[in-house]
Amino acid sequence: MTDTTTEIMVGPVDEIPLGEGRTFVVGDERVAVFRTRSGQLFAVQAECPHKRGPLADGLLGGTMLICPLHSWKFDLRSGDALMGDCGLRTYAVRVDESGQIVVSV
Ligand code: FES
Repeated sequence: MTDTTTEIMVGPVDEIPLGEGRTFVVGDERVAVFRTRSGQLFAVQAECPHKRGPLADGLLGGTMLICPLHSWKFDLRSGDALMGDCGLRTYAVRVDESGQIVVSV
């Protein structure tokens, strides 16, 4: 089986304030990267599976994300829906030695 995962650098981690998210175009995909108040990073699909709400504008409570449009709730660690019918696609994300966010797509 071929591993088709590609790591793409999207920008400095300092550009995402703690407790917020930002949307990045990563290869052919749009990915929302979140930085929790404790500094953990998570990456999920950028649009809500309900009606394509911009998830990077959602509210973060720990690792729980609330969609800004109709308040579906998701667990950023797994992508699972905590309230709503459908979960989120998740992506591996890390910070490299120079402080850049690297997302795997
Ligand atoms: S678009 Fe996200 S809950 Fe409706």
